[in-house]
Amino acid sequence: MARVNKLKAIGIVGSPRKNGNVDTLVQAVLDGAEQAGYQTKKYMLNEMKYSGCQACDYCKSHEGCRLEDDLTSLLQDMAEADAVVFGSPIYFLQFTGQFRLMEDRMYSLIDAGFNSRLRPGKKAVIVTSQGNPDLVSYEKAAMEFADVLKMLGFEVKDIIRMDSGSARDAVLGRKDLLDKARLAGLSL
Ligand SMILES: Cc1cc2nc3c(=O)[nH]c(=O)nc-3n(C[C@H](O)[C@H](O)[C@H](O)COP(=O)(O)O)c2cc1C
Repeated sequence: MARVNKLKAIGIVGSPRKNGNVDTLVQAVLDGAEQAGYQTKKYMLNEMKYSGCQACDYCKSHEGCRLEDDLTSLLQDMAEADAVVFGSPIYFLQFTGQFRLMEDRMYSLIDAGFNSRLRPGKKAVIVTSQGNPDLVSYEKAAMEFADVLKMLGFEVKDIIRMDSGSARDAVLGRKDLLDKARLAGLSL
């Protein structure tokens, strides 16, 4: 009997807090995706060892990154995945350092002509959390990252932004966001 390959979704958590707001929301998107038939996997960047981009331009004359570390399999998975959930808290107006190092390594997904090596049509969901109760603040960080994803050929399906998230479990009181996240996964 022919085996049907499942669609694949990966989640990337740029927060050091396990079961924190971003982790919980990324997991809710993945749970929805699983319900929709996806096979899922989650990467906790803070538990991984990797370097930032070395600007060596190896990836402009070869298919991938010269560095071999814990991001090697993540980037490979990203290339294979049908959907990727990108999550980071806001640290000093931006995504976290852990996340930004990973983002810079996504440079290896772009060829010498600055075209994406990824097959078009991959879906993405962005999740952020911030302490500030004013959601207008830091909108720019998510929007700019959405632009990066679009440049790489992703279709950004949803951006889920949590405010007032200073406590790591604040999200548990946000049924609206948990429902939104699960629905985002279900709709992938
Ligand atoms: C180093 C650091 C910098 C932060 N900078 C900001 C900030 O600029 N604006 C803000 O609203 N919250 C800021 N926060 C709060 C986090 O964004 C907030 O607690 C977020 O909900 C954490 O998400 P997590 O529970 O997934 O880790 C900062 C937290 C830390 C530890």
